[in-house]
Amino acid sequence: MKHYKIAVLAGDGIGPEITREAIKVLKLIEERNDVTFELLPAAFGACAYFEFGDAFPPSTIEICDRADAILKGPIGLSHEESKQIPIDKQPERGALLPMRRRYNTYANFRPVSLPKALAHFSPLKPEIVGEGIDIIMVRELVGGLYFGAKETGVNEQGLRYVKETLEYDEQQIKQILLQAFKLARKRKKVLHNIHKSNVLKSSVLWNEILDEVAKDFPDVEVIHQLVDSAATNLCLKPTQFDVMVMENMFGDILSDQGGGILGSLGLMPSACIGDEKAYYEPSHGSAPDIAGKNIANPYSMIGSVAMMLENSFAMEAEAKNVWNAMQAVFADGFSTADLSKPGSGVKMIGTDAFGDKVVEKLKAMPRV
Ligand code: IPM
Ligand code: MG
Repeated sequence: MKHYKIAVLAGDGIGPEITREAIKVLKLIEERNDVTFELLPAAFGACAYFEFGDAFPPSTIEICDRADAILKGPIGLSHEESKQIPIDKQPERGALLPMRRRYNTYANFRPVSLPKALAHFSPLKPEIVGEGIDIIMVRELVGGLYFGAKETGVNEQGLRYVKETLEYDEQQIKQILLQAFKLARKRKKVLHNIHKSNVLKSSVLWNEILDEVAKDFPDVEVIHQLVDSAATNLCLKPTQFDVMVMENMFGDILSDQGGGILGSLGLMPSACIGDEKAYYEPSHGSAPDIAGKNIANPYSMIGSVAMMLENSFAMEAEAKNVWNAMQAVFADGFSTADLSKPGSGVKMIGTDAFGDKVVEKLKAMPRV
C-alpha cells in the first residue's frame, strides 16, 4: 500500500468550497486504489495573514516541507480588501511567490483543453474550435521580472521611479526548455516557442539556448512565434498549438488568455513542478465576488488533483479517469452558474452537486 502526505492549502475566496470537492475525489481514489492519502490542511494566503500575520506562516512551511505534494487553492482578496494588508505581505507577494521560490517549482504546466463537446463554453465560433482545443502551455515559473531585483525611489529630477529586473541565466532557460521538449516529444512533436526577440535581449538568449537544446530533439519541430502574434493566433486559430513554451510573464498573460478562449479560467488547473517538490493549483484567482455562493465550478481544483496523481504519484490511468469523469458530467448537460448562463440549455447545479456527480462518474469507471 502506497502512502502519501498531501498538504492541503484551501486558500481564500472560493478556495475552501472547491477544495472540499477535490477532497471528495481524493477519498474515492483511496477507496479505488492501493493508496492512502494523509491530508495535512494548512493556512495559506490572506486567511493565514489574518490568523498568523503571515500569508505563508512557519507552521504551513513546515507542513509543506514534509508533504509529498501540495494541493493549493486560489488565494487573494478583492482590490479594495487587499489594502488591509501591507503590500509585501499580500498573499501573492507574501505567500505564492515565496512558495514557488522555496520549492523551485520552475516548470508550470497549464492545459488549455476544450473537447469538441464542450465547445459551447467557448466564446469562439464552432468552426474555430473545430475538433477541440488541446494545448499545454509550459510557463517558466521562478525567474524573469516576477523574481528580479526591484527598486523604487525618487530620481535626480525629483520624479518617482521604479526599476524591475528581467533576469535569466542559461541554466534556468535550459531546464524549462528541456521540460517543454520532453513533453512535445510525448505529444505531437511540435513545440511553439513564444518569445519577443525583436525587442528583448532575454528572448535572444532564450532562443540561443533553444537552438542548443533542440539538437537533442531532432524529432521535435520548433515553430517560433512572437508573443504578441501568439496572442492573436490563440483567438484566430488555437488548434495550431500543441505545446507552447515561454518565460514567466508571457506565460502568466497567455495562460489567462487560454482560459478566455475556453470560456472561463474556471477550466484551468495547473501543475508547478520542481526537481524536489511539486504543487498543484488552479490558474485562476480566488473570485471573492462569488465566494460562498456554491456556484464556482470545482473543475480546476479537481483537475489539479488529476495532475497531481499523474506527476507526483505515477497514477496516470486514474488521473485519466478523473478527467473523463469531469467531462462525463459536462456531457450529461450539467454545469455551474460561473460557467453557464441561465437559458443556455444546461442543467445548472451547485459546486457541491458538481463534485458529487464527478464522484459518481468516477465510481463507475473501470478500476486500474
Ligand atoms: C498565476 C497568478 C499569479 C501569477 C499571481 C496570483 C501572483 O496570476 O498563477 O497565473 O502571476 O503568477
Ligand atoms: Mg495569472
